[in-house]
Amino acid sequence: MTQVKKSLAYGIDFGTTNTTIALVAGDRRARTLGIDKEAADASVLRSLMYVSPQRTFLFGAEAVEAYLADVAQGEQRRKKLIYTGKHFKMGKFSFVAGYVGEEWVPLILEIEEGTGGRLLQSLKSALSSTMLREIDIFGRSVSVEELLSIFLGEVKRRADELVGGKVDSVVIGKPVHFVGENDEGAVKRLRKAAELAGFKEIEFEYEPVGAAWDYGLGYGNNEQLIFVFDFGGGTLDFSIVKFPERKILGTGGLPLGGDLIDSQIFMSKLAMYFGSEARYGQNQMKFPMSIFEQLRSWYQISLLKKESFLGTLEDLRYKCTDLKALEALNSLVVNNLGLALYEEIDRAKKELSFYTEAEINLCAKDIDFSEKFVREKFESVIAEDLAKIDQEIAETLKVTGVKAEDIDFVVTTGGSSQIPIVRKRLEKVFGAGKLRSQETFTSVAVGLALRAAEIFG
Ligand SMILES: Nc1ncnc2c1ncn2[C@@H]1O[C@H](COP(=O)(O)OP(=O)(O)OP(=O)(O)O)[C@@H](O)[C@H]1O
Ligand SMILES: [Mg+2]
Repeated sequence: MTQVKKSLAYGIDFGTTNTTIALVAGDRRARTLGIDKEAADASVLRSLMYVSPQRTFLFGAEAVEAYLADVAQGEQRRKKLIYTGKHFKMGKFSFVAGYVGEEWVPLILEIEEGTGGRLLQSLKSALSSTMLREIDIFGRSVSVEELLSIFLGEVKRRADELVGGKVDSVVIGKPVHFVGENDEGAVKRLRKAAELAGFKEIEFEYEPVGAAWDYGLGYGNNEQLIFVFDFGGGTLDFSIVKFPERKILGTGGLPLGGDLIDSQIFMSKLAMYFGSEARYGQNQMKFPMSIFEQLRSWYQISLLKKESFLGTLEDLRYKCTDLKALEALNSLVVNNLGLALYEEIDRAKKELSFYTEAEINLCAKDIDFSEKFVREKFESVIAEDLAKIDQEIAETLKVTGVKAEDIDFVVTTGGSSQIPIVRKRLEKVFGAGKLRSQETFTSVAVGLALRAAEIFG
């Protein structure tokens, strides 16, 4: 492929949930590139990779499809019996005398001989983790940077193909604070991944500054002060920008996004279907909280399918007050239903942005519930998040030395910014009629492309 004019540079918004890429073309217009033909909106590639046991990779919508096809085929997979060496207590029955007490029986687990692939997500959230450096991919340890470079490399390859030449310069977005403890380390690793992906000139810009530049494209000539509110899947990010100078007065943010909201919905509305209220054993204890910590994302659920966890489930069977929930928990893990569960939660949550009522349904092997979910309940589930958001807005304004009433417009972007109560709270803080919505999923990438044109053009 030929090298295109050197001044061309991409803007990439590598999001926790979605990734978009944009470019300012020769006519000085910024546009997004359709890098996922399989997706409902071709400009939005889900930040997901599927790896087959042969180590071939699929991305975005295709990755989800491949994973779900594996799950559907799970039933036909070969089963393997594992003799754990452990025993559990079981009621003993006699045809003549009925219940005759309990006996210890050997614990033998049946697990699948996995032939399916792995779905990888949350690579962005993994970037700032000092614990997670390598991920095991079918027996080979691969660094987070290397895995991410495969994803970014594919984004670049698809974009280059659409552009008709190689573009090796890029401005990549970064949140004000990554999910995790090490912002600086995360940027270093992101740079390494971008280098491995083939980028030669790499700059970073705050994601909410990207959104501000996108806003400025249409409305930036007047004197005004804007507050950008970018609420995504992993993080919430702010920037305060003065136009027409485009001066960045301040930034702020929280490691709080749609993923966390989904897990809060699970804990408050659905955990009971998986045993959060059950009791077991001689002393009728509750199931260990650590189990529910592991159910807070579909990805963690997918990692539970190990002998040790399945053994724990067997221990919980003894005098369990809710065997239906225990079977559901077992099925969730054994049948890899975590993704289906979280997709359903996410769907219902999104529906509540447009309707006052939604239903969360899941009907699969040993799992069957239909839970009514009303907007008011949702708002109470995220009440603490809302308070934190108010506090962080106040803090950002204070540090920047700007008063809420001095802000002319609040520019909103990111999927979670569509939540009605969030918008209501913003109006309360800044004043009614000040909210301006930018393109929910693409404005950051477009703004980063504009920054890229300034930096490399
Ligand atoms: N209508 C909606 N109502 C509520 N939440 C929504 C809606 N649409 C999308 N979301 C949520 O928005 C999130 C994805 O938004 P977005 O694509 O802006 O995030 P991202 O850029 O990938 O993440 P980040 O910027 O935090 O790294 C998901 O958590 C999704 O559940
Ligand atoms: Mg984002």
